[in-house]
Amino acid sequence: MTGGADIERVRTIADLRRCIAEWRAAGLSIGLVPTMGALHEGHLALVEAAVGGCDRTIVTLFVNPAQFGPNEDFAVYPRDEDRDAGLVTRAGADLLFAPNVDEVYPPDHATQVHVSGLGDILEGEHRPGFFTGVATVVSKLLLQSLPDRAYFGEKDYQQLCVIRRLTRDLDIPVSIAGVKTVREEDGLALSSRNAYLTTAERAVAPVLHGTIAQVAEQVGRGEDPRDQAQWAIDQLRRAGFGDVDYVTVRNAETLQEAVDASLPARVLAAAWLGKARLIDNVAV
Ligand code: PAJ
Repeated sequence: MTGGADIERVRTIADLRRCIAEWRAAGLSIGLVPTMGALHEGHLALVEAAVGGCDRTIVTLFVNPAQFGPNEDFAVYPRDEDRDAGLVTRAGADLLFAPNVDEVYPPDHATQVHVSGLGDILEGEHRPGFFTGVATVVSKLLLQSLPDRAYFGEKDYQQLCVIRRLTRDLDIPVSIAGVKTVREEDGLALSSRNAYLTTAERAVAPVLHGTIAQVAEQVGRGEDPRDQAQWAIDQLRRAGFGDVDYVTVRNAETLQEAVDASLPARVLAAAWLGKARLIDNVAV
């Protein structure tokens, strides 16, 4: 921190649009980085990509109730706006859009965006309603700001695929940029939910990335994807993971079972470790 003033914060869509209109009048390009706060280096990599690629960067901070299931962690999701504002200021962002729930979802809000197929499998199967919540709020954020480019992490690879699909299907004139997953030195993908791990669980957690990286390598060498996925599930169980929701090799774009070895594929996994549900993915 150079001691500069904290970033400007806006709470309403009207104020957001006023600010963007001024930038547009000056011919400036705009990048958008949607987040739910509790920011870490993974989020900041998105901010840095936006700052490097656009004249102005907007970070949104909104813990979206629509994407949490009834038994999920909405109430206890970590919230510290001042800390997050400081971090994005230092990363070079220009505006923080932090609306209240009523601003995004007024009491008579009735419209949802559902991405069929792509949003119903994998995470969608294990977290019913999750992608409808994500797709609805991301559609709204994109339409509220109409940036040139919006940045999302490969960490949430299926989310990135769902968002690419909805911008195409709804003709939202925004280009979607995917940013590589930021990891700890031992391979664990940075996530706000890693805070739920005990010290002992934290020591086991990197096995997830290590295992799917091995699957990617073996499948790349021509080994059978299903056999490799089953091997990975056994590995995770042996290492101390609880339920393994899935380990699977999929077409990198459609997320259908990878049948054509000549097309890009992705290994995706989700598994429980204590109270934390960890997800990760790597390219084949
Ligand atoms: P959140 O979990 O806060 O993540 C915000 C963005 O940061 C997402 O695009 C996510 O993929 C990215 N991200 C998280 N951890 C990362 C890591 N280790 N490396 C790279 N990028 C990482 O994802 C959401 O919020 C919400 O679903 C949202 C898109 C904001 C809609 O509510």
